[in-house]
Amino acid sequence: MSAALETRGLYRRFGGLQVTDNVSLKLEPGARHALIGPNGAGKTTLVNQLTGVLRPTRGAVFLDGREITALPASRRVRLGLARTFQINQLFPDLSAAESLGVAIAEREGFGAALWRAAGSRGAIVEEIAELLARFGLTAEMDRPARTLAYGRQRLLEIALALACRPRVLLLDEPAAGVPEGERRDILAALAALPEDVAILLIEHDMDLVFSFARRISVLVSGRILAEGAPEEIAADARVRAVYLGEDGHG
Ligand SMILES: Nc1ncnc2c1ncn2[C@@H]1O[C@H](COP(=O)(O)OP(=O)(O)OP(=O)(O)O)[C@@H](O)[C@H]1O
Ligand SMILES: [Mg+2]
Repeated sequence: MSAALETRGLYRRFGGLQVTDNVSLKLEPGARHALIGPNGAGKTTLVNQLTGVLRPTRGAVFLDGREITALPASRRVRLGLARTFQINQLFPDLSAAESLGVAIAEREGFGAALWRAAGSRGAIVEEIAELLARFGLTAEMDRPARTLAYGRQRLLEIALALACRPRVLLLDEPAAGVPEGERRDILAALAALPEDVAILLIEHDMDLVFSFARRISVLVSGRILAEGAPEEIAADARVRAVYLGEDGHG
């Protein structure tokens, strides 16, 4: 079986800075894989190359065995690759229910302009209700997204990514900026994501990383420093040196 997502020898430079340096990464179907590393290690830059926001200087990206290195971002989403952003990017004036309607309409090819019509179809109404329930957003489904607590906004973002029916989901710091009291909801939502979706989680919160991941890659200065099961990573001397003094797991 092909990997759900794979990169082979990716390189990316910004001027004199090698931000992605020979990154090869493999996510099996249903993977729970975390990508960790210090600020500026190149994690978001890597995600941008996976999603097609940035082109690698060299190397290749495969989705389900199919090369997607040169495909535009929108094509990749349709092929089953979805992501959330480190900084939240919702439609601020739409409600959670409306936003999900737009996302589903896009997926089904109705076009965002027709989402109102599409939103009245039974199957779509049901799907919206299911997604709202899965992320605990039902009670607030009609409020403009900008009025939701920040943790709820982040949950809505994950719900929107899931509305694309991805086979691979890239989560770039889903708990960033979320106050302590709401982090547990994010953790629960991550734990309840569909089993068959391969997930790459980028996160600085090591409790979240170690509770979620079955495999961890450590990126430092654009390179994969180590990859392995959580126990191996926690025990790795090179990784511990990078994280020294940062967190109890390291
Ligand atoms: N468009 C760009 N042009 C020039 N340099 C960039 C650009 N985007 C990112 N960089 C640089 O590339 C490096 C990696 O940045 P990136 O955002 O990928 O790191 P990161 O691992 O996601 O960090 P963080 O944990 O803080 O989110 C940084 O030194 C950053 O300044
Ligand atoms: Mg980042």
